[in-house]
Amino acid sequence: HIYEGAKEASAAIAKTIATLIREKQQQGKPCVLGLATGSSPRLLYAELVRMHKEEGLSFQNVISFNLDEYYPIDADALQSYNRFMHSNLFDHVDIRRENIHIPDGTIAKDQVKAHCAAYEEKIEKAGGIDLQILGIGNNGHIGFNEPGSSLFSKTRLITLDNSTRLANSFEFQTVSQVPRLAITMGIQTILKAKKIILMAWGPLKAPVVQLAAEGAVTEQIPASLLQQHDDVSFFMDTAAGSEL
Ligand code: GLP
Repeated sequence: HIYEGAKEASAAIAKTIATLIREKQQQGKPCVLGLATGSSPRLLYAELVRMHKEEGLSFQNVISFNLDEYYPIDADALQSYNRFMHSNLFDHVDIRRENIHIPDGTIAKDQVKAHCAAYEEKIEKAGGIDLQILGIGNNGHIGFNEPGSSLFSKTRLITLDNSTRLANSFEFQTVSQVPRLAITMGIQTILKAKKIILMAWGPLKAPVVQLAAEGAVTEQIPASLLQQHDDVSFFMDTAAGSEL
């Protein structure tokens, strides 16, 4: 889906999410959303907040699972994805606090494995992810699944690529302050979602969007593994879709 700009595309994604939330509400069921961070979903979350405030869209039945978090990082650090989600979405809507799940960047290293396994279990227990929202890294990562991530990977601790640390360094004072590790849902975790929407804006994303959508299916471009899913949509602005 190629739109004139990120704003129009984000509004269309917000509509899809709102429809799903309302459908599930009518069925008396929870709506399980997989959520992303980074700059790409900012307009989407702003639109969802607007729909909550102006159109009465309720998040009471929403259960959310975030894709990833730096490790280690304080939950309230400026760069933490925990903080990002609260300030861009959760603090402004009526989602129940107990329904929010974000990988914990503060736990002790010897507990990370158990934390990741428990995260997977919580997703299963919630009935699986109904809709997974994704951004895409310049190197093709989804969540923090860097190139080389296995198709069968689950939520785990991962070493960030230098290119990712460099790309994300604008959020920190220097690149050396960007954590070297992160906790991320795996490729398998993502592919288990019933529906997937990937967002990409701007000319810098054009080459990787082309590889992901039209190139070979390879673990070297993790987003290309999405081609194996039967309900995945890419939402782009004209610049990000210009090499398709
Ligand atoms: C970040 C995040 C991803 C995000 C991607 C693109 O490092 N871990 O979840 O999708 O890189 O970020 P942005 O949306 O800022 O371009």
